[in-house]
Amino acid sequence: MSSMSANATAPADAIEQRVNTLLAEMTIEEKIGQMSQVNGGDSYIHDYLRDALRAGRVGSVLNEVDVNVVNELQRIAVEESRLGIPLIIGRDVIHGFKTVMPIPLGQAATWNPVIVSSGARVAAREAASVGVNWTFAPMIDISRDPRWGRIAESLGEDPYLASELGTAMVRGFQGDDLSAKDTIAACAKHFVGYGESESGRDYATTNIPENELRNVHLRPFHAAAKAGVMTMMTSFSDLDGVPATANEYLVNDILRGEWGFDGFVVSDWDSVRQLSIHGLTANDRESACEAAIAGVDMEMHGDAYLNHLAQLVDDGKVPLEAVDTAVANILRAKFRLGLFENPYTDPNDFPPFADADALETAREAALQSVVMLKNEHHVLPLSADQLSSIALIGPLADTPYEQLGTWIFDGDPRYSVTPLGAIETLVGDGVDVRYLKAMETSRSRDTSAFDEAEALAAETDATVLFLGEEAILSGEAHSRADISLPGAQAELVGRIRASGKPVIVVILAGRPLTLTNIVDEVDAILFAWHPGSMGGPAIADLLFGIESPSGKLPVTFPRMVGQIPIYYYQKNTGKPPSPETIAHIDDIDAKAPQLSLGMTSFHLDAGYTPLFAFGHGLSYAYFNYENLTTSTSEMALDGSITISVDVTNTSGITADEVVQLYVRDLVGNVTRPVRELKGFRRLTLAPGERVTVDFELTADDLAFYGRKMQRMTEPGEFHAWVGSSSEAGLMAEFRIVGER
Ligand code: NOJ
Repeated sequence: MSSMSANATAPADAIEQRVNTLLAEMTIEEKIGQMSQVNGGDSYIHDYLRDALRAGRVGSVLNEVDVNVVNELQRIAVEESRLGIPLIIGRDVIHGFKTVMPIPLGQAATWNPVIVSSGARVAAREAASVGVNWTFAPMIDISRDPRWGRIAESLGEDPYLASELGTAMVRGFQGDDLSAKDTIAACAKHFVGYGESESGRDYATTNIPENELRNVHLRPFHAAAKAGVMTMMTSFSDLDGVPATANEYLVNDILRGEWGFDGFVVSDWDSVRQLSIHGLTANDRESACEAAIAGVDMEMHGDAYLNHLAQLVDDGKVPLEAVDTAVANILRAKFRLGLFENPYTDPNDFPPFADADALETAREAALQSVVMLKNEHHVLPLSADQLSSIALIGPLADTPYEQLGTWIFDGDPRYSVTPLGAIETLVGDGVDVRYLKAMETSRSRDTSAFDEAEALAAETDATVLFLGEEAILSGEAHSRADISLPGAQAELVGRIRASGKPVIVVILAGRPLTLTNIVDEVDAILFAWHPGSMGGPAIADLLFGIESPSGKLPVTFPRMVGQIPIYYYQKNTGKPPSPETIAHIDDIDAKAPQLSLGMTSFHLDAGYTPLFAFGHGLSYAYFNYENLTTSTSEMALDGSITISVDVTNTSGITADEVVQLYVRDLVGNVTRPVRELKGFRRLTLAPGERVTVDFELTADDLAFYGRKMQRMTEPGEFHAWVGSSSEAGLMAEFRIVGER
């Protein structure tokens, strides 16, 4: 597809010259027009929009995906406005356009930057074929609260993983040449802290101390900026009393000042005007003033800039330079996208939607995203040769739409292959596949089909339950307070258990669920997230052992909601828990003395461990880790260290494993987490194959922000663990030496 390049990206200084020349010709109204984004999306151009385009009062349109309408919008902007500045056309292409990849959280479970990037490349190509040249992705909000519906759109809880995969997504959307026809501008969002919304309620307040902000939440955004992401979106949320859309410290000081970001910043949907709803401003005029001064270059769907910015400049409230900088940032992006050379889209330049490459990418992504949480007595994989019948039961076995997940405005369920369809194809005529939906939706409380379900399970050789959440239960403004399986699903599990047959559960969901009430009732769990268009074939191949599960959790699974937030990257505290001192609420003697349980940090009813740890994910193969070594026991402050481990596939099948490196800095200028992911590698190992995996860490990789918010690497003791999850036990020690 790289041959589709319209023109090589022009050199940066040539672009700057064009930006400045154009800027010098613009009136204040035309400048503010560039800073305004208008909602399209009606497959029709309203008269007011035509007039606004002609007057140069629109810089961007979002949500229009009819290519003829998009081309007409561009034509009016280019041919009928005074300066002929093309539009940037935005759309939420979050995890696919027509072909849908797993939800981003599922993609994160692949721990595979290559497949994540490929998914974005497919999405970019399909979206570009209708004239979309800007996506509002990736969402790289660090997400530690599974109640939050938008965790589905995130890349999980860890700043390193989110940085690696977020930049992979940026590369996939933007390619090497942003002006190529099949690449689109990416948008890192939501800057910043949105994932910390109190109690997981969407849009709620966030409270993040600056040290935590810098060491955790800003990291993926900084990585995206370094990777050349063209745009960033401010968050809806309020950070320390200043909503992100008005937060000059975040946008102008950190993003632009410290990081030198030269792309443009867009507000979230109407979030400029919402500043007054937050109670930060009294009216739209004040909101426009705050957002413009903060450094928000474009207002997404809202008219505060259009209506007030010119007057604010006139009144000396907003410096003209702020407007000029914003417009330059937007024009720079349009030049880099090659829009001035070629604003129009010919769909014939593109392959059809959901072509073989797109579907294969979606299948591979789904395959690598599925996490096997449990596999008691090796009940999986199933053997088609040894089964004469199989029952597929549950509300999500055959739901082409639901398996696509949240945020799929353009996703086409006609391309979905469901687990039922795929399993029927895979097993052929030799196995009698018996399907019963049993529940109308995942939320249904009607148990009237459960007798039939139990009987079906008893009559067949094996039962696979397809449970979880429908797509509508996660995503924006779709938070849940109880994140267990909704409706009567747990009861259904119990009834299938009663059949006496092994119970295999495949869960399709947009978030981690609390599975405590079913985990001991079932023999195996494949957690498939919302796996996208090709979820069915991926799940079928995993159930029948054509492929081995290799997904790893990008987020911790709590035992119960009361543990949230629970994440691996925690601090040790002054009273860390240990297995010796933990009692369970049920085991506490009557009148037990106050101090008898030890005085440590845990819950009496949940302990201190999660149900499934970050990084966890089982395989049909066995991997042996040994010989953990470090290239040196003492690393210089400006040096590097290589941490190596031998990994052997001791099983008889070829399978993928994700080798993970965690580090702890034992003593810090500020306290450091008990473990931090510092590297990972997805490997394919043949039976008996052994490889040595090397992770090189520089002092910079071990740096963090200290008490005075200075980035520093400190001399001292470090522990390093390598293994197959954040609970990895193989440990080595090293020191950093030198003068700080
Ligand atoms: C609101 C969401 O927060 C944001 O992520 C999205 O890109 C915009 N709406 C546009 O749809």
